[in-house]
Amino acid sequence: MHLSLCTTLTLLGAVATALPGELISKRALTPQDINPRTGCPGYLPAGEFEFPHYITQVSKSEPDRSWGPQYFGVFTPNDVASIFSFDVPASRAGANCTLEFLFPRQEQLVTSSYEYSGGGSFFFTGFNPGSCPGPQTTWNNLPAPGPFPPFPPVHMEPGNAYVIDIGPCWVGAGTCVAGMTSTNDSNFRFFQDFNDCPIGIYTTYSYLT
Ligand SMILES: *[C@@H]1O[C@H](CO)[C@@H](O)[C@H](O)[C@H]1NC(C)=O
Ligand SMILES: *[C@@H]1O[C@H](CO)[C@@H](O)[C@H](O)[C@H]1NC(C)=O
Repeated sequence: MHLSLCTTLTLLGAVATALPGELISKRALTPQDINPRTGCPGYLPAGEFEFPHYITQVSKSEPDRSWGPQYFGVFTPNDVASIFSFDVPASRAGANCTLEFLFPRQEQLVTSSYEYSGGGSFFFTGFNPGSCPGPQTTWNNLPAPGPFPPFPPVHMEPGNAYVIDIGPCWVGAGTCVAGMTSTNDSNFRFFQDFNDCPIGIYTTYSYLT
């Protein structure tokens, strides 16, 4: 499959705001999760979500290369992976955090574009809360591994939204929570953006009432 969309993509950088050993659920969203007003996959409730505040890449074939701050998520099979970091305010400690990847179809995007080809298998790894990526980050110098349970591989394709993880926000509240997303079979490059249809990785807050 080869798509060239125009809108914003957020990569799969799964940053898990999920918690150590307290996984609530993992699921792929269904067609019922399509926003009926916009037709976009998934919702970003106003004031109740975070976009990644830092994105960078690492490369297995260039293990000492530092990519610094980036706006795109970039993935190549078994080589380039992307790291996404979220800042969760301390005031969100009482919420549940949902980490999700929103992947609209190209024609739903107005201000962004993406390139995607391959089998769509993606892998998410969560780092230790407070261990943030920065200019020092390379394949050989990743943030510290987290206490998170392993994330099963996710098959992702355009037109869908994927919940990577749901967990209590207190785990990362008041600091950063970052994760790495990689693929073994796909080439994918997207601009993380939330205008029009949001694309890429987001953390949303929820409170049971
Ligand atoms: C990629 O990983 C998935 C999940 O582990 C596996 O089923 C698939 O065979 C792998 N594909 C390649 C090309 O290695
Ligand atoms: C978080 O999710 C769990 C499991 O569904 C639920 O028991 C708990 O009440 C939720 N907390 C909030 C603040 O929504």
